[in-house]
Amino acid sequence: SNVSDMDIPIYSSENLTTSLRREPHGAFTGKLAFAIAAAALGSSFQHGYNTGVLNNPQKIIENWINETMSNRTGEIPSQENVTFIFSLMTSVFCIGGMIGGATTGLIADKFGRKGGLLLNNILVIIAVICEASSKSASSYELIILGRFFIGVNSGLNAGLAPMYLAEISPINLRGAVGTVYQLVITISILVAQILGLKSILGTDDLWVTLLAMTIVPAIFQLATLPFCPESPKFILLSKENEPQARKALSWFRGTVDVHEEMDVMKAESDAVKLIPKVTVRELVTNSTLRIPLIISLTVMVAQQLSGINAVMFFSSKIFNMAGLKGDNPTYATLAMGGVNVLMTIVSLFLVEKAGRKTLLLVGFGGMAVDTLLLTIGMLFVHTGSTAGIFCVLFVLIFVVMFAIGPGSIPWFLVSELFNQSARPTATSLAVCINWTANFIVGLAFLPLADSMGSYVFLIFFVLQVLFLLFIYKKVPETKNKTLEEISAMFRQQSYQ
Ligand code: GLC
Repeated sequence: SNVSDMDIPIYSSENLTTSLRREPHGAFTGKLAFAIAAAALGSSFQHGYNTGVLNNPQKIIENWINETMSNRTGEIPSQENVTFIFSLMTSVFCIGGMIGGATTGLIADKFGRKGGLLLNNILVIIAVICEASSKSASSYELIILGRFFIGVNSGLNAGLAPMYLAEISPINLRGAVGTVYQLVITISILVAQILGLKSILGTDDLWVTLLAMTIVPAIFQLATLPFCPESPKFILLSKENEPQARKALSWFRGTVDVHEEMDVMKAESDAVKLIPKVTVRELVTNSTLRIPLIISLTVMVAQQLSGINAVMFFSSKIFNMAGLKGDNPTYATLAMGGVNVLMTIVSLFLVEKAGRKTLLLVGFGGMAVDTLLLTIGMLFVHTGSTAGIFCVLFVLIFVVMFAIGPGSIPWFLVSELFNQSARPTATSLAVCINWTANFIVGLAFLPLADSMGSYVFLIFFVLQVLFLLFIYKKVPETKNKTLEEISAMFRQQSYQ
């Protein structure tokens, strides 16, 4: 059936006054903190750790692939073949991420947000079994398989965890709590970089342990998340169990006085009941939904095509291009990881003050200026070490600008732009496109860098400027707005 604009919820005047009533502010309670830790530490850790884990031990793993191949065939494999297997190990993670991201909506609806997160740990266990047995079985295929499963797990996490976090937080903390997802990603990338050092687990004997460490956050989550309630919004709006939802909400807020917030949720629930579950087709054809969809997808693509993972995956190569020698690229990489964590903490405090849109604009704008300076700096690297030092500085500033907003905001913006009936489907599409763009950058950067030299960064510069213009023109400020107010904005826009 063709869905027209008339299918959007019609608000009776009574409904409208309830739904536009101010959603009450809520406190940051100990139990809320516990739930955030259980959800975020257990899930975004997989995402970040496995993003960073192959960076440092690349050489060691390539040696093992080489050895395994020659044991099998009796011939020494070409470097191209070995590199190919290694890039497959890296990139299959993103392919898994696309699949996991695409199924988020299904899982979130069927098993709930918390339920989905818990089940998702099965994939971690399978992945770790594959990776941990790879060396003794002399099979690099097992690592590829393991990386695929942990990719699916991470894609699912990237949808489920921000959804859970956005749904359990009071309106005044939604951005800060949403940023925790990205904060844990940055911390776990740094942990992976540190553990991967030659002096720790990045050795011939221990690199398998390095990969298998990803089981730790799964155990943590399985031990903590069962004590937290499911998202009250899911219980009320999808399961239609009001007493249970009230109980869950009281748990998170630390008080039985949750009437006002329940009223706002019930108004949303009444409105949502008027429309059937939103499908992908409706998201695309209904103009009230199409605008937030385009915004969510573009912001996700912008996050990746800003070039962040060219830096995260291949920083050593970039620091080599900047003239660093010996162990210095490794130290510069650690500095970069550290700066990423620190700035994400700063953004956690800024996001409820400055707002989402401002931070996105500052972030992408800063990245664009910085990327241009980096390109110019790279042209002068051969003239001596001063230019090299500047280039390292520009890479660090690049990460700082990313972490101010483009890193964290896209993850929770999707949850903010859609109401309950469209949120899971929209999240699926957004997370899937994020991983697709991630995959493309991972695949294309090295070949492009080889053929274009430092001019490769100009591609990112042009894209950043385009995204900056898009955000300036199209993205609304969502800070401290209820979901109903946000949907109302889009309804107005679509009628103009
Ligand atoms: C965001 C990106 C991820 C990247 C990370 C770096 O989470 O989605 O791909 O590695 O930021 O901090």
